[in-house]
Amino acid sequence: MRPFCYKTVYAKKKTRLCRVGFYMEKLIVRPCGALRGRVGIGGSKNAALPILAATLLCEGPSLIGNLPAIRDVELALAILSGMGVAVTRVDRATYELNTNHAFPPAQPDPLTGRMRASAYLLGACLGRFGVGRVGCIGGCDFGGRPIDQHIKAFVALGATVSVEDEAICVRADHLHGAAITFDTVSVGATVNAMLAAVRAEGETVLRNVAREPHIVDLAAYLNRCGADIRGAGTATIRIRGVKTLRGCSYSVIPDMIEAGTYLLAAAATQGAVTVMGVDPTHLSPLTDVLRKMGADVDCEERRISLFATARLRGSTITTAPFPGFPTDLQPPMAALFSVSLGESRVCETIWRHRFRYVEELQKMGADIRLQGDGACIQGGQLHGAELCVPDLRAGAALLIAACAAEGESVLHSPSYIERGYEDLLLKLRALGADISAV
Ligand code: UD1
Repeated sequence: MRPFCYKTVYAKKKTRLCRVGFYMEKLIVRPCGALRGRVGIGGSKNAALPILAATLLCEGPSLIGNLPAIRDVELALAILSGMGVAVTRVDRATYELNTNHAFPPAQPDPLTGRMRASAYLLGACLGRFGVGRVGCIGGCDFGGRPIDQHIKAFVALGATVSVEDEAICVRADHLHGAAITFDTVSVGATVNAMLAAVRAEGETVLRNVAREPHIVDLAAYLNRCGADIRGAGTATIRIRGVKTLRGCSYSVIPDMIEAGTYLLAAAATQGAVTVMGVDPTHLSPLTDVLRKMGADVDCEERRISLFATARLRGSTITTAPFPGFPTDLQPPMAALFSVSLGESRVCETIWRHRFRYVEELQKMGADIRLQGDGACIQGGQLHGAELCVPDLRAGAALLIAACAAEGESVLHSPSYIERGYEDLLLKLRALGADISAV
């Protein structure tokens, strides 16, 4: 395939940031019965975004494969392109990023306001240039999304952090190793500390870190570039700073949240779906609950099959950092609970305000009561309704509910969903969903 330069395409189509996506005004979902079939899972959004930021730390090109074709990846490539990174598309899921002529932004790119992962530019720019600036950090609205633990790590490594003209600025003449114990387990702070420490002088020990598969993937990419990171996937990460990193070829891990969403859609419609190209160990917190609910779940080396021939039984979930139940699957799981038998309970410990989908599910007839940090759900039959998508995973929840409901549903502002699900319509239709975009 002939490579093309992302920068050129981006420059020519100033009004459209999307390479492959398109802006949908609404989705119309009609009852479809059981979803059945196989679905290929794309690369992990939550691994791809830190790795794309990490390319800034390397000399020479990196070839990053299995990048999901989603809005957040397009945004990340556009932001890096604006910082002088030569971004070349090799094939649909593979990009070469050459950061040799990258420069730190004098002003924060307004695009950084569109996604949470922009925060990773702080750690990456600090490690590469000794200075980084990011505007108001965007992303889904779950109430406050603090970054005090990111700042704690930057300061411990020798940086100063300030707010200038509504931008967060980090600066360091010299980064040095440090022992940092996080007060809370944070994926974002773990990523940023790793990015800032990997080229710092001396050894950094990070304690109480996130253990998510995407943290392990970031460490694997950086190690392949020449970093010395040990312990990723455990609660303590040790990093010996190196002077230089060289770009490499790397393939991003599969997206466990995308895979989990299709399994939940299959369960809610009493269907039979196999998700292909996944790592079942990443999804055991979900598959354990689905089995308890009565689904037949079969895990092989790179695939998971779910069969549900009747309504599943209700259950209880409590979200927690990996290997706990992932907060990103809490809204889709609540959609399944809404059509399951009996009472279910959801306790959300990561984002206490992550219940903006509840009002929408209630429009469909769902019996959900919010109680403290959780929700109590009495399962029943849902009916179609006019719905508004409040954020990415809430959108996934509403789609699942709409597929399982009686009657037609209309989902307004569904573009949030494009932030995290590649080829969503194609994949759902291939499984038998009756869904069209306007
Ligand atoms: C979190 C999730 C991640 C999910 C993402 C988007 C965890 C551990 N992280 O990642 O799986 O994909 O949301 O839904 O499940 N916190 C602080 N101070 C900080 C940083 C975080 O108090 O400096 C708190 C947050 O308020 C939150 C918790 O720590 O309660 C986890 O936040 P963090 O992991 O940093 O958020 P994300 O990286 O966005």
